[in-house]
Amino acid sequence: MNKDEFLAKYAVERRNTNSVKWDGMEVEFGSADFYPLWIADTEFKLPESAVQALQKRVAHGAFGYSITPDGYYDAYFKWQKERYGIELHKEWLRFGTGVVQSLSTLVQFLTAPGDAIMLMEPVYHPFRHVIEDQGRKVVANQLVEIEDEYRMDLDKMEEEIIANDVKLLMLCSPHNPVARVWSEEELTDLLELCRKEQVLVISDEIHHDLLPTGKKFVSALSIKDGFYRDNLIMVDSPSKTFNMASLLISHVVIPNPQLRDRYDQQQNLLHAPAGNLLGMVAGQAAYRDGADWLEGLLDLVRFNYEYLKIHLQAAFPTIKLTEQEGTYLAWVDLSTVVKPGQLKHIVQDEAHLAVNFGEMFGKSGAGHIRVNLATTPENLQAAVSSLVKTLQENQA
Ligand SMILES: Cc1ncc(COP(=O)(O)O)c(C=O)c1O
Repeated sequence: MNKDEFLAKYAVERRNTNSVKWDGMEVEFGSADFYPLWIADTEFKLPESAVQALQKRVAHGAFGYSITPDGYYDAYFKWQKERYGIELHKEWLRFGTGVVQSLSTLVQFLTAPGDAIMLMEPVYHPFRHVIEDQGRKVVANQLVEIEDEYRMDLDKMEEEIIANDVKLLMLCSPHNPVARVWSEEELTDLLELCRKEQVLVISDEIHHDLLPTGKKFVSALSIKDGFYRDNLIMVDSPSKTFNMASLLISHVVIPNPQLRDRYDQQQNLLHAPAGNLLGMVAGQAAYRDGADWLEGLLDLVRFNYEYLKIHLQAAFPTIKLTEQEGTYLAWVDLSTVVKPGQLKHIVQDEAHLAVNFGEMFGKSGAGHIRVNLATTPENLQAAVSSLVKTLQENQA
């Protein structure tokens, strides 16, 4: 499916539907009339078959306690195997009500209060919150920017792991917000370092279907035919790909049986729900039939990215955007055109863009904005015009 068919069939008005992105904008940004390009969801309905599956299930009308249907495992495993070569097994998989909720549970049982946990900044901000809110210590390794590309700094990482006695690494793969899809070599080197230093790894792969340039995604689970599996836990969800965050479902994949037992004990202690029936109904259908829908979404993300890049750089050639290898979130460096301390005033107060500011993802994100490309071209293009005009006025 191309972007035009996708837009015609799936774009939907989200105002007045209790959407955080649109209806929560006034509380978050002080106005309901800004251009919403922030929180990571989309303006698009789920694949048609997923909506139909939900309608059928809702029409049944009874929502008592439920079990995970075999069809869900089949659809998810087939999707992972055929698209990415990832081998999964039913006994490895646990369900949660969201990836952040799952990360929080994992941090609780994998570490003790005071333990050091590493993340790679700039990074999705709840990583830090999940660590700090539970009395663990953040060790913020910095990604390095080389020729407009963010890379891992493994030497520095090793030093910091040893100096801080790091117990756990939270990996974001693909990486939000810098839009990298880590290569097999990069992941191999990272996992080898963690094995050597006895650092457990959580690989958050929630963005792994969102590959607008077609770059190959490799799961940490598949590196060296699963050699590092005992040392790692993978989390993901159909929610980011198919726009169903409110259907509350996440996957926690734990190949190591000892870690799995400890996870189960922790879940029992928390009496935490394992997923959500409607999330499974929608996810099953989306994994089964959603490949064409996903093509349409990615075509649109590519189109919006090109528009953003071309128009910003036509007006200001020094504005930098990283390659959009992964995620639908563009990482835009405005530091050459906006003075430090002025970013929020210009972008939000004057240009009326509701975006996430880079510092939210760590100090090294200063001067950047994160722009959600999974929106209609109208929303994005109006925002770009407003931003360019405001920047030009401020330069004059
Ligand atoms: C890396 C990453 N993990 C987790 C999430 C959120 O997942 P959930 O809504 O399932 O908690 C996001 C949302 O943007 C994300 O970017």
